[in-house]
Amino acid sequence: MSAAGPRFALVGMPGSGKSSVGRQLARRLGLGFVDVDSAIEERLGCSIRDFFAAEGEAAFREREAEVLAHLLAEPEGRVLATGGGAVLRPANRTALRQHSTVIYLKTTVEELLRRLKGDQQRPLLQGVDPRAKLRELFTQRDPLYRETAHYVIETGRPSVATLVGMVQMQI
Ligand code: S3P
Repeated sequence: MSAAGPRFALVGMPGSGKSSVGRQLARRLGLGFVDVDSAIEERLGCSIRDFFAAEGEAAFREREAEVLAHLLAEPEGRVLATGGGAVLRPANRTALRQHSTVIYLKTTVEELLRRLKGDQQRPLLQGVDPRAKLRELFTQRDPLYRETAHYVIETGRPSVATLVGMVQMQI
């Protein structure tokens, strides 16, 4: 059996650029790319938004953990863009660190707000004050992202290409 290929996982808040950076990073490194949210939606057979509405967050976290564990167990080298809440479970954090090089795309709440203005897809941001919610999520999760990550990239407002370059210089 061949050894597992290099695997990278991007973690960070919703809107931090995990999917855009991940896709370009994978292309530059000649690796496959997997958007974990899309993999979960494929498995669920519906959108995350609809699943949240029907089954709630706890049921979603179960499915998220299963899909993540499955992807991390596969030997292919690739880049994974995780969902913003993937670090909430200790077992997910351990698996991510053990089976991939984890990169935290750290973004300010103000920048996230700018990018997520009018977003209809993220269930946690619907029907609430997005600034207050993002602050709450950031306060809760920033320590978890840092604990999980091997590298932290402060994203600010550079282009995706610049960010990919920054990630490549770190790894
Ligand atoms: C979530 C973020 C979403 C998605 C789900 C829950 C979260 O992914 O997994 O809506 O808890 O922050 P993105 O970070 O890609 O938006």
